[in-house]
Amino acid sequence: MSGHEIRELFLSFFEKKGHTRVKSAPLVPEKDPTLLFVNAGMVPFKDVFLGIEKRPYTRAVSCQKCLRVSGKHNDLEQVGYTSRHHTFFEMLGNFSFGDYFKELAIEYAWEFVTEYLRIPKEKIYVSVYKEDEEAFKIWRDSIGLPEDRIWLLGEEDNFWQMGDTGPCGPSSEIYIDRGPEHEERFLEIWNLVFMQYTREKDGRLLPLPKPNIDTGMGLERISSVLQGTKTNFEIDLIRPIISFAEEVSQKEYGKDFMTDVCMRVIADHLRAMTFAIGDGVIPSNLGRGYVIRRIIRRALRYAYRLGIKDSFLYKGVDVVVDIMKQPYPELLQAKEYIKGVIRSEEERFIGTLKRAMPLVEQVFQESKARGFVEGSKVFELYDTYGFPLDLLEEMAKEEGLYLDMEGFRTHMEEQRERARKHFKIEVSRTSPVYEELKAKGISTEFIGYTHYDTSTKVLAIVKGESIVEELSEGEEGELILETTPFYPERGGQVGDTGIILGKDFVFHVDDTQAPTEGIITHKGKVVRGKVRVGQEVIAQIDKERREDIKRNHTATHLLHSALRQVLGDHVRQAGSLVADKYLRFDFTHFSALDWDQIRKVEELVNEQIRKNYPVDIEEMDYNEAIKSGAIAIFEEKYGQRVRVVSVGEFSKELCGGTHVSRSGDIGYFKIISESSVGAGVRRIVAKTGRWAVEEAFEDSKTLSEASQLLGVKKTELLSSIEKLLKDVKEKERQISQLKEKLSRETIRSSLVKEEINGIKFIYGLFEDVDMDVLKNEADNLRASGSTLVFFASKKEGKVSTLLALSKDLTSSMSAKELIKEIGKILGGGGGGRDDLAQGGGTKPEEFNKAVDRLRELLKYNK
Ligand code: ALA
Repeated sequence: MSGHEIRELFLSFFEKKGHTRVKSAPLVPEKDPTLLFVNAGMVPFKDVFLGIEKRPYTRAVSCQKCLRVSGKHNDLEQVGYTSRHHTFFEMLGNFSFGDYFKELAIEYAWEFVTEYLRIPKEKIYVSVYKEDEEAFKIWRDSIGLPEDRIWLLGEEDNFWQMGDTGPCGPSSEIYIDRGPEHEERFLEIWNLVFMQYTREKDGRLLPLPKPNIDTGMGLERISSVLQGTKTNFEIDLIRPIISFAEEVSQKEYGKDFMTDVCMRVIADHLRAMTFAIGDGVIPSNLGRGYVIRRIIRRALRYAYRLGIKDSFLYKGVDVVVDIMKQPYPELLQAKEYIKGVIRSEEERFIGTLKRAMPLVEQVFQESKARGFVEGSKVFELYDTYGFPLDLLEEMAKEEGLYLDMEGFRTHMEEQRERARKHFKIEVSRTSPVYEELKAKGISTEFIGYTHYDTSTKVLAIVKGESIVEELSEGEEGELILETTPFYPERGGQVGDTGIILGKDFVFHVDDTQAPTEGIITHKGKVVRGKVRVGQEVIAQIDKERREDIKRNHTATHLLHSALRQVLGDHVRQAGSLVADKYLRFDFTHFSALDWDQIRKVEELVNEQIRKNYPVDIEEMDYNEAIKSGAIAIFEEKYGQRVRVVSVGEFSKELCGGTHVSRSGDIGYFKIISESSVGAGVRRIVAKTGRWAVEEAFEDSKTLSEASQLLGVKKTELLSSIEKLLKDVKEKERQISQLKEKLSRETIRSSLVKEEINGIKFIYGLFEDVDMDVLKNEADNLRASGSTLVFFASKKEGKVSTLLALSKDLTSSMSAKELIKEIGKILGGGGGGRDDLAQGGGTKPEEFNKAVDRLRELLKYNK
């Protein structure tokens, strides 16, 4: 029987028994925050069991997509090494919501197994919870199963629970005896859970409003039994994916244990990632996204072991979809999307894998004798290569090694400490004035997360390096207030600007700083009246500017996550400026981003903006925050209590800055430039909101004007500029050709020829002629033999010379020596070969003397 047939047989059997056929829910639980993924058929019915939700039916049957990769039911690390573990699988189940209970549940199961699946009765064994006498009696008396085929087991085996909390109850399991020749002789195929309780957070069991039935039969396992395959991986629903792995790796399945493990992992994980991404999960660094990222990376790592070094998983999606499209037609629609997501994810990780694997292998080799991998090595792989720790740990385990996490943390801490020290040096440059104020008990309360204005009091005034009592019109200084809505420059976010108003003065704030812990200063100028210490004032920030800053700050977090997603986990913030008109973000990465990557990053950020996630801000302990997966920036100093800023599931960072309340408030994000700021550090400048719109407008205006200027369409602008540049180059070439020709003519018309001692002596002085041109000409002239050519070209009080001899003369003369000789006359020197030499000097006016000297030398040359 094919897998599809078994699925259909089950669903229609229970339909006949009055059950409503319910479509599989998505893998992502729709409203259950306690669970990352649906891990059993009952999950979508949880609220019905709890009595919170009513449905128009009391009996249901389903074939539910399940993923067991986290929480209570996590099979991830077993996958591949065993015959029957999966991350993704389909669960067949029938459910009763306060309708029938144990009696009918057992009867239905018996009928289906023996009459529909036709498993011989004498091969069936069951287990019941040791205290569940009722179930025991039903099996023995109503069904007629001999007592020795009913096992009484404890909680470990026969008490089922969805998670740490939620519905649960005793269960009864059905086993098949496959005969003593099988390693797994008794194989459990069906779990009947008698849902009677719900587990509370504190561990207590509370009875459910009504007793229910929840059953679960893994489709892959029952298919394996009926199709007679050795493991689940050879059934018709999975084997084609193994064949795909065989084809890509050029290796054969079923010959070697480790090869089989790798292929099973690839097959299992391909199913998991295809379904999860199809149900809306996007690989990321948090929550569900991280689980899927991990699955993809795990598949790639096992593929790497098979010798597959390039992206290929996305092609496997075709195979999975082909098998599963009939029961899950939604896959067909999402196929191209799923492939795209997987492809970009795998391409990204393969880079890391290729870079890091040689080192990983070397480190493992060196660690063998020690039994563990040193913390410094773990840190290097993590920090420099961006190698994921969980993957490294798993790989080490396979080699019988463990990671020295203690040492790793020490290195991490040291790095943070270095950064902190660096930070402290910077703050300690603060002027003693503020320390003095602090000593006087002066401090400012910051209320700017929630307020844009407030009425308050001037506590102190600073002018230059001194504390003063007042500040008059036109004077610049700093006001320190009791409370303030002004955000002081910190964590990359610029200080607020705004206005401070007293009864008879106006003070413009140009910048806000926090020169020392607890003190916030408002720097600016009195534009009217006089400010005195003690005065009541109204402090109001420039609201619109702050909104701009907020947009840029939240966008910076999105950008950070997007960069990690597109480029890899090695990306770390290396500096950040959050201003009003733009944001600047420095990060670690080895090479320039190409247009494709820039586009992906920009699109990813804009997608999160459109999703309009709420931005949640929570205060918690530093350690708790780190545990929850929040990103901390090394360069920052954190206290014990930290603020954690999350944007949906996309980003989570420790941050003291100000943020928009929903991602949609950012409006629009646009990257303006990408450049290098040093070895391994890149810089992105971007704009958001109205400034991004402004930038886009300016760009398009420039483009339009340029195309008008050139008289071409915008789309033809590039090719037309290219053509223009080419034309210019061609023209330049022509011009230089003409110039050369012109110079040659000049040379020819103005050179002098004499004959001395049977030697042709040709010379000339020219105005700024290229040496190459002169050389060319000299070559032509000396070709006829017995020739000495002497050229000089003067320019701005300097002279360049060239002296060439025909070959036949070099036995009695040397151009090199001659040019040195006349170099003296011209106030310079020269050098070269015996037949050709060049020189120069600072006395062009002595040219004639030089010619006289040459004439003389020729005369006496014998
Ligand atoms: N919910 C039960 C299980 O997953 C049937 O085994």
